[in-house]
Amino acid sequence: MSTLNSKLQTPNIPRNARIYIAGHRGLVGSGIWRAFERRGFTNLLGKSRDEVNLINQQAVDDFFAAEKPEYVVLVAAKVGGILANSTYRGQFIYENLMIEMNVIHAAKVHGVKKLLFLGSSCIYPKMAPQPMLEEYLLTGPLETTNEPYAVAKIAGIRLCDAYNRQYGTNFISAMPTNMYGPGDNYHPENSHVLPAFIRRFHEAKEQGLEKVTCWGSGSPLREFLYSDDLAEACIFLMENINYADVAHEDSTGTVQSHINVGSGSEISIKALAEIVADVVGYKGEIEWDRSKPDGTPRKLMDSSKLRKLGWEPKVKIREGIGRAYQDFLERYTG
Ligand SMILES: NC(=O)c1ccc[n+]([C@@H]2O[C@H](COP(=O)([O-])OP(=O)(O)OC[C@H]3O[C@@H](n4cnc5c(N)ncnc54)[C@H](OP(=O)(O)O)[C@@H]3O)[C@@H](O)[C@H]2O)c1
Repeated sequence: MSTLNSKLQTPNIPRNARIYIAGHRGLVGSGIWRAFERRGFTNLLGKSRDEVNLINQQAVDDFFAAEKPEYVVLVAAKVGGILANSTYRGQFIYENLMIEMNVIHAAKVHGVKKLLFLGSSCIYPKMAPQPMLEEYLLTGPLETTNEPYAVAKIAGIRLCDAYNRQYGTNFISAMPTNMYGPGDNYHPENSHVLPAFIRRFHEAKEQGLEKVTCWGSGSPLREFLYSDDLAEACIFLMENINYADVAHEDSTGTVQSHINVGSGSEISIKALAEIVADVVGYKGEIEWDRSKPDGTPRKLMDSSKLRKLGWEPKVKIREGIGRAYQDFLERYTG
């Protein structure tokens, strides 16, 4: 295995290569699609769940056999906030495992040149030292609220590693922090904290409410990354980084190859609520319901590995929330 400092091989994907973005209509996938288009890629493949349901192994294999993608970005997943994750535990582990197993296996069977699998910062132990390094994976118990989702994501990373080592595939994994941006999910129960705040504060402003009650104490610290920044990181990884460049043995002798993708800035949930309220123009009181769970107290990833390789985020949080709110207004109002 080479080390992080090994010379990058820069494969420079041809602009007419067949690139399949699994999950191209969601928050992250749509950003990655736009970023590939901006760079002049002309042969992007995307299928909705109705066209190819990725939990169906036969459908996935048929799709790969017919369309012959050369490169794959595996973005598709069942995704949600604390409530959805802790309520639909069976669906979160089953659907995510099936999607990963089917797509990663089909990529191996059909000779895909490179695959990028997107995991999540939820893979790290609940009490991991902060900021979280890649090698903290599997060093302690997970946060219980989203454990089924995290276990499935860990299985995806390990599947990529195992296939690379047994079959010589070139499958890499990126672990994004909390994402937000155009195309986000604003569902009242199933959304993540930032889009949920955008919707709630917007509705509170529209309804003239004097008070908005938010879950928990507001004290947990979180890191957020704008979706276009993640999209740029994904293209950087696809174009420049191979498994051999990032795989290395950690201090316990375990081979680690996944890469953190974060902004490097953390903010309390309370401060986040105040920024969203300000951007949206909500002037009322923000109350905190401490009977509701907070989740992990602090979650900041150490993304220095990717930064040393050459990527860095560009969009500051207030600017990103402003853009996300414009997208919310265009899609949900008027
Ligand atoms: N959002 C975050 O804060 C965040 C943070 C860290 C990591 N991630 C990771 O980033 C990835 C994308 O997240 P996202 O927020 O963009 O999610 P999203 O907006 O909910 O989009 C999910 C996408 O996956 C597709 N999909 C889900 N189940 C499918 C199935 N059975 N068959 C085919 N397609 C299916 C959806 O297709 P349809 O549109 O056809 O339903 C949609 O395009 C996920 O792997 C997630 O774990 C997200």
